[in-house]
Amino acid sequence: MADKQKQFVDWFRQASPYIHAHRGQTFVLSFGGEAVLETTFRNLIHDIALLSSMGIRLVIVPGARPQVEERLRARNLEMRMKGGIRITDEATLACVKDAVGSITIEIMGQLSRGLANHPAANARIRVVSGNFVIAKPIGVRNGVDYLYSGVVRKVEVETIRTRLENGDILVAPPLGYSPTGECFNLNAHEVATSIAASLGADKLIFLLENKAILDKRGRLVHQLTDAEAGQLMEADPDLATRIPELDDAITACRGGVRRVHLVDRREDGGLLLELFSRDGIGTMVSATPFDTLRKATIDDVAGIIELIAPLEADGTLVRRSREKLETEIDHFNVLVRDGAIIGCAALYPYPAEGLAELACLAVHPDYRDQGRGDMLFNNLETSARQMKLKQLLVLTTQAAHWFVERGFNEATIESLPVERKMLYNYQRNSKVFTKRL
Ligand SMILES: CC(C)(COP(=O)(O)OP(=O)(O)OC[C@H]1O[C@@H](n2cnc3c(N)ncnc32)[C@H](O)[C@@H]1OP(=O)(O)O)[C@@H](O)C(=O)NCCC(=O)NCCS
Repeated sequence: MADKQKQFVDWFRQASPYIHAHRGQTFVLSFGGEAVLETTFRNLIHDIALLSSMGIRLVIVPGARPQVEERLRARNLEMRMKGGIRITDEATLACVKDAVGSITIEIMGQLSRGLANHPAANARIRVVSGNFVIAKPIGVRNGVDYLYSGVVRKVEVETIRTRLENGDILVAPPLGYSPTGECFNLNAHEVATSIAASLGADKLIFLLENKAILDKRGRLVHQLTDAEAGQLMEADPDLATRIPELDDAITACRGGVRRVHLVDRREDGGLLLELFSRDGIGTMVSATPFDTLRKATIDDVAGIIELIAPLEADGTLVRRSREKLETEIDHFNVLVRDGAIIGCAALYPYPAEGLAELACLAVHPDYRDQGRGDMLFNNLETSARQMKLKQLLVLTTQAAHWFVERGFNEATIESLPVERKMLYNYQRNSKVFTKRL
């Protein structure tokens, strides 16, 4: 097969689980006014249209800082900021309305072009904007009156939901209205965060004017919990200036948004890479589950059995006797909530082969889809790295896609360590997956 064809097939296989998983989900997407000024803005709009055509429900919250400042300069108006917040007097508010209005119209216009050069080119994309946010004034803080700068008071959740269910893309400008009919200048990040939290959105995506979070050696940090993000911000006060969206990400996670993605806007197609490829190009911040993850002890055996027995009965997990579990308990980690074991996972190292097998990963059905599987998996992956192992291995009958989405590739039975291969149950016919560490 020609290289290009192979690349396409590989790409399509990698993307397909995500296409399936994202359908019907709600994403809130926010970007700065800088994005609108770029020649590549068309590409971003195209990608947004593509997401919508794949059944993703979208709310777009654009910022307008450079456009507002351009208008202030043109009218010889002074830019007044205090503590990073604009003081919006009447003349400034006129510039804000003008800038936000024209950006909203620009986005609506470009989306109305639909998907050019695409089989669905004729499919109309419906875009609506509106008064989705009720605002109140910031008021006077430390003696400074912020005038027409406001904060979100309430999000019109039902209105937004109805529109999204209708298949419309929503553009929510960073303006809010008070019940007294006044208009307030809002921070786009705050609007996006409030909408995402009020809707319980599946994802909040911030397109940044910067690279996402980097570690000390300059490598991209792919994942963080909200607690880890908070620690990073405490350790590096400059981070809040470089990526103010990180603070919003923490607020969103604590407000019930499952995942917040921080993606460098300057990367053409970055949004698609983040959403449809295994590693993504940004940093994902997810909520820290309110559970304790710890090493299992012999006292946990009964709880583990209770958790995995139904999964053994339906063939999802391989059967383990109580005696086997007792002898192997040191390999297990458990996730505990209010004293009950709601998740477990085990790691069996094969140091001579430089690999470890991940096994018996299970989360109680009542607690799934909230990042606990990830938490158990990430913890064991870190242990394997600390043991300087080079590869993780997993055998599964039901969760192949779950592991593929976390960087595993299908392998053959031949790739199993010799002693493990001898134990392979051909009747069970589990698939083998490996991940390079
Ligand atoms: C696999 C399992 C541990 C995941 O636990 P979890 O706490 O729901 O995991 P997370 O919350 O971190 O991940 C949830 C995501 O994985 C997806 N997912 C869950 N099970 C999946 C599966 N079998 N195949 C593909 N994707 C799956 C969910 O749809 C969700 O996707 P989204 O975030 O894009 O909506 C849990 O479903 C389970 O206990 N399954 C039965 C046991 C099993 O099959 N174990 C693996 C063999 S070792």
